[in-house]
Amino acid sequence: MPATSLEQIVSLAKRRGFVFPSSAVYGGLGSTWDYGPLGVELKNNVKRAWWRSVVYDRDDMEGLDAAILMNRLVWKYSGHEKTFADPMTDCRNCKSRPRADHVFVSQKGRDPKGLDEINAAIAAKELKCPKCGATDLTEARPFNLMFRTTVGAVDTGDDSGLAYLRPETAQGIFVNFGNVLDTMRRKLPFGVAQIGKAFRNEITPGNFTFRTREFEQMEIEYFVRPGEDEAAHQSWIDARTQWYVDLGMRRENLRQREQAKEELAHYAKRCVDLEYKFPMGWSELEGIANRTDYDLKAHSRSPENPDAVGELKYFDQEQKKHIVPYVIEPSAGADRATLAFLCDAFDESLVKEPPAEETTKLRELVLSFAKSVDKKDPKAFDPEAKARLVAAAEKIAAGLPGTLPELLALSDDEAANKIEVFKKVRGVSEKLGEEFTRTVLRLHPRLAPITVAVFPLKKNEPRLVEMARGVKRDLQAAGLRAVYDDTGAIGKLYRRQDEIGTPFCITVDFQSLEDKTVTVRDRDTMGQERVGAGELGGALRAKVG
Ligand code: GAP
Repeated sequence: MPATSLEQIVSLAKRRGFVFPSSAVYGGLGSTWDYGPLGVELKNNVKRAWWRSVVYDRDDMEGLDAAILMNRLVWKYSGHEKTFADPMTDCRNCKSRPRADHVFVSQKGRDPKGLDEINAAIAAKELKCPKCGATDLTEARPFNLMFRTTVGAVDTGDDSGLAYLRPETAQGIFVNFGNVLDTMRRKLPFGVAQIGKAFRNEITPGNFTFRTREFEQMEIEYFVRPGEDEAAHQSWIDARTQWYVDLGMRRENLRQREQAKEELAHYAKRCVDLEYKFPMGWSELEGIANRTDYDLKAHSRSPENPDAVGELKYFDQEQKKHIVPYVIEPSAGADRATLAFLCDAFDESLVKEPPAEETTKLRELVLSFAKSVDKKDPKAFDPEAKARLVAAAEKIAAGLPGTLPELLALSDDEAANKIEVFKKVRGVSEKLGEEFTRTVLRLHPRLAPITVAVFPLKKNEPRLVEMARGVKRDLQAAGLRAVYDDTGAIGKLYRRQDEIGTPFCITVDFQSLEDKTVTVRDRDTMGQERVGAGELGGALRAKVG
């Protein structure tokens, strides 16, 4: 069963060392996250797979790693200083601060024509606060999403040292267009790939690592002759979609969404979003835009830009003249892709039926939980959570024991945990879950944080331990991420590795001592085969691909 809520992913991620709330020892900092030992491996593997696909497997791409801090003028002429802003309004009644354009769209059923139209609607009291319903909203003001900082030891109080933490990696590529062109002697079409941090003071971060204020982008700017842009755009849309599928993402959870004309950024001729079906619904994973010649022109010296030192252009040998290339931009988020791969890989299922009397006892507990929730005073308990929990509990009770994984997922629900009887439900379901369910992360072997785990059949048998440690060392030497573990019975060790997505487990047993073969167990099929210890590195490398 796939994840039914993001909480299941968050819970597994925290429990097994993928992602931790940042600065937790001081109470955390809203919507910031640290990647733990397994998370950093997973995210690095996602980034490596992207780099390999868009740089190493092609002949028309170069890489770049531009600075996060750039001359402020980059952000002036890119348009970010003026336009990278969300319109915010304050509710004088409940003091909430909603996004004014969202309020307009949800209450008028269409996009506003601009800030003036939003403010006219606010002045005419046509818009209500989405939280308290009051029509006492302040004039909407643009709130710039760029983080400001000061460069240099002295803050002069004016804006002379002002710099921004980059809100996208793309501009670093545009302003390096000439450098890459000159040094690498490229001919059109060619592209530049970059992975790096970006920062946005998002008004509504949330949904775990889906929207944060500090995140990593994986961006490509692909330069083409004008006229060849549309075909190149389509080919990148296809290639980028295929990348996710090749790394195991289920096709039915991935879709391409054509942005409507009104949605397009001011620089874009066309944009297709790749969306993933996250537990919270279809949401953007990557945007693939045709940015025309907007950016190279914006950073070129002209009457509109007297600050640029030169022009970003290309001498076309065929036409014997300078042209400004068009740009196709596949722009992905490393954190979002990592989250999507985690969600897609998550699988929790019942492996065998618990005894009937245990199921009956659990069903009664779940029904009494449903009753308790139902009795809650709607003033003291969120009515939406109440309806959701009652419906979920009744459905789970009717479907037990098959719905045990769904019940376990409810353990991560904050509202459920506020109900006293849920403690009992949790205790019983977690005990049954330990024995009768299996959680597996079906990550592609190339993405899995650990590729192979090696166990001795018995940890108190020195010959098995020595051979298992040797096998692990050989696998490390073969360039695989391999670990050794002897801290439990083999069944328990398999379970642990399944939960973190390790595709292969190796057991060294007494037969291994005699014929130098070991058992390789496959996470997905649970099938086992004997392989010569000397052939393991090559065999597993071939499976990882
Ligand atoms: N250069 C174009 C650009 O930055 P974008 O749609 O704003 O376009 C591209 O961002 C990708 O970066 C998104 O599809 C998403 O994967 C990721 N991204 C954007 N904002 C993010 C945020 N606040 N948190 C996590 N990822 C984000």
